[in-house]
Order: sequence, then C-alpha cells, then structure tokens
Amino acid sequence: MAANEDQAHIAVIGCGYVGLTTAASLANLGHSVIGVESSLERLESLQEGKVPFFEPELEELVNLGIEENHLAFTFDLKSAVSQAQFVFVCVPTPSQDDGSADLSVVRSVSEEMSDSLISGSIVILKSTVPIGTSVQVEEWIDRSDVEVASNPEFLQAGRAVAAFKNPDRIIIGANTLATREKVAELYSKVSAPVVCTDSRSAELIKYASNAYLASRITFVNNIAELCEKTGGEASTVLRGLGLDKRIGEAFLQPGPGWGGSCFPKDTRALISVAAEAGSDATLLNAVLESNETRFAQIAAVISESFIGHEEIQVAMLGLTFKAGTDDLRESPSLKVASLLLNSGVKIVGYDPHVTTTPLNGLEIVQSVEEAVKDSDALVVMTEWERFVDLDSEELIKLMAGKIIVDTRNILNSKTYVDAGFSVWQAGQGWKKPLK
Ligand code: UDX
Repeated sequence: MAANEDQAHIAVIGCGYVGLTTAASLANLGHSVIGVESSLERLESLQEGKVPFFEPELEELVNLGIEENHLAFTFDLKSAVSQAQFVFVCVPTPSQDDGSADLSVVRSVSEEMSDSLISGSIVILKSTVPIGTSVQVEEWIDRSDVEVASNPEFLQAGRAVAAFKNPDRIIIGANTLATREKVAELYSKVSAPVVCTDSRSAELIKYASNAYLASRITFVNNIAELCEKTGGEASTVLRGLGLDKRIGEAFLQPGPGWGGSCFPKDTRALISVAAEAGSDATLLNAVLESNETRFAQIAAVISESFIGHEEIQVAMLGLTFKAGTDDLRESPSLKVASLLLNSGVKIVGYDPHVTTTPLNGLEIVQSVEEAVKDSDALVVMTEWERFVDLDSEELIKLMAGKIIVDTRNILNSKTYVDAGFSVWQAGQGWKKPLK
C-alpha cells in the first residue's frame, strides 16, 4: 500500500545507466520503486548498494533509496510488475547492422510481463525507440486494460542525476489525457516544463533532439577545421556565433568528433526511420560521414607531424567518449587510436576510469607519467580535469618528443609552447616555439 497519496508503486525494467538513474531518482522523489535486473552479477552488486559503472552521485542516491526503503532490486520481472501501477521500460535498443534500432529486448520484456501487469497500470517507454514503438508495444502486451506511454530520457552521462532533478523539460506521450496526467503526476516535485503529446511525437522529440545536437557539434567541428586551416580563432568565432540568441552558447565546443552510447546510435536509427518513411535524410547522412572525417583529420594531424619518422609512440590521454563517465562506446579516442594503430603507430593510453585494454594493440597504463614516458607525442582526447595542468618540465624530462595535440582545447598552449613544445589545438591549429 502507498505510504502517502503521492507515492506511486513503480517497477523499472533494466538497471543500466538510464534505468538505474531513473529508479534511484524516482525513489528519491518519494515513490516506491523496484528495479528489475536480468544480470545476476549486476543484481547482487546493486542489492549491496554498489553501482557497477561510474556515474557521479548515483551510488549515494541508490544507497539512500535502499536505506529509506524506497528502492529495492529483483530478478523477477513478473512479480515486480504485478505490484506496480507504473512500469518503466529502460532496456537497451542497440543499432543493428542496417542502423535501425534492435527492439528485441523491448519485445521480449513486453511479452513476458503481459500476463502479470495489473489492470489499469501504465507501461512507460524510456528507452529511445523508433516512432510507432509505443503502439507496437501495445500490440505485444495485448491487454486492453493497460496503456503504453512514451517518456524519453535526456540524461547526459556524467550528470545524469543532476539532469533528472533539474531537467530542461519532461516529455510525455500518450494517447489519452488521463494517462498523460497520471505520468506527469509522478514528476510533480520536479520543476520543469512538461510537454504532453501523442506517443509518436514524444518518440520523435527524443530522436530529433539527439540528431540536432550531433549535427550541431559536427557543424562546430567543420568551423573549427576551417579555423585550424585558415588561422581563424575558433573560440572567438564560436562565441560570436553563440551570442546570437537564436543559436545560443551552450554545446559549441570543438573536439575530436562526437561519440557515446546515444548520438551515433540515435542518428543512425533516425536515418533508418526516415528511409523507411520515404523522408529525406541527406543532412543526417552528411553529419554521420563528416563525424567520421573528423576522426580521420585528428589521426592525420598526429601522423603528419611525424612524416619520415619510424617507430612512433603516442601517449593517448583519455579514452572515454567524454569526461565524467567510464563509457567507451563509440569513443572518438578509440576511433582515432584504431586509425593510428593501423598505420603502425604505437599507442600507450591512460584514462582515470579505464584499467583494461578496450582495443587490440592499445597498451593501457595506470598513470599519465607511464603513458608519456618515451612518447614522441602526447594527445589529449578526453577533457578530464587532471589533464588541464600537465607539468611541462616533467613532460620534457619524460617524453622523447615535443609534440602535443589537444583535441579538447583544455591546455594553456602558451605554457607548453614557451617550454619548447609544438602544440596543436582543436579550432586553433599549430602553435610552435620561435626558432
Ligand atoms: C547525449 C544527450 O546530450 C542526452 O540528452 C541523451 O539522453 C544521450 O545522449 P551523452 O551521450 O551523455 O548525452 O553526451 P553529451 O554530453 O551530449 O556529448 C555527446 C558527444 O558530443 C560527446 O562525444 C561529447 O564530447 C561531444 N560534445 C558535446 C562536443 O564535442 N562538444 C560539445 O560542445 C558538447
């Protein structure tokens, strides 16, 4: 029974990064939440209050939920949903070979829980899914007394808990007003605009948001490359651009190309949805291609600084797709590393959250010092705070060469140029010491 009127009984299926953040955050809002996890190893770890991946603030929130008796975990999907008024589906929807989203896990959980759902319950899709999936899930569940809604997540790795507490907006898609209101009520303690719409529009909002952001970064990297090649100052150019209120200043950092678990997968999936609908996806295809080109540009910047040399060793600082996460999925670091390894460059990688090698041939060490030792060049691929103040004297002592490639623009180039390094930065190109 609910301890108070506002407390809902919720099951969250899938305790990965989205599901666990959702479960712990809903528990923190006062709801009674049960997380369903199919991996026994992960389940045991969660039951002990241990989060099996790195996400700031999440472990504390999980433990608080367990202590306050608002959060528990189980393997048993049927039993969990048989006591839930709301069932959040947070299972993976990975890319298939043709770019479309693989809905097999969504389908299997829908079919498996169908008989156990309580009458009047609402199944809410939080996983990112193609347009029309909510309607499809209704068919898989096949229960006229259960509704399916869409409530896409917009969590950013590294700030997922903060983003849940303070989102830019909450999107709810459902085909009846009553269902929209019931789902909105779950978030009554969160202060954010709520956009209620039909489920297809909600699903499209999620894809459109990620595809737009990915396109935006690709545009930024195109302008950055122009600056690198023509001598423009990208940080000023982009600030000048962002001050136009229609454009805005956030999300305008040039870098080595975008990666992660969402942008590549969702952009490919939207292209696939567009193709199926006979809709034009020229822009999105170009965005994907241009992002791959950016990885190649970064690899070329590194390898071209060694033309004529043999047996090159590069220290790669940062392997995750961005700072604040241990996620290596579609990481630009690995794309660039792969291109360099294929051209015979030796790479020694260091990342504060990576202990074993994610790529054949890529050596992993446990400190910056070990990575840079005897290296001909140092490449900053991820914007971890600890790479901002690398000691130039120490680098000179340890490294064999004097080349720094800063793909995240986090170093003060003057410090390193004054110490005798040639420094390349995203959006700025090379700065070299005076002869
Ligand atoms: C993204 C969306 O932001 C989030 O709303 C959605 O739910 C999941 O996908 P995330 O994958 O965590 O979140 O990463 P994000 O911070 O958006 O960055 C994506 C990529 O763009 C990273 O590779 C990042 O380094 C790059 N990026 C981002 C830039 O190169 N420059 C920027 O200014 C911002």
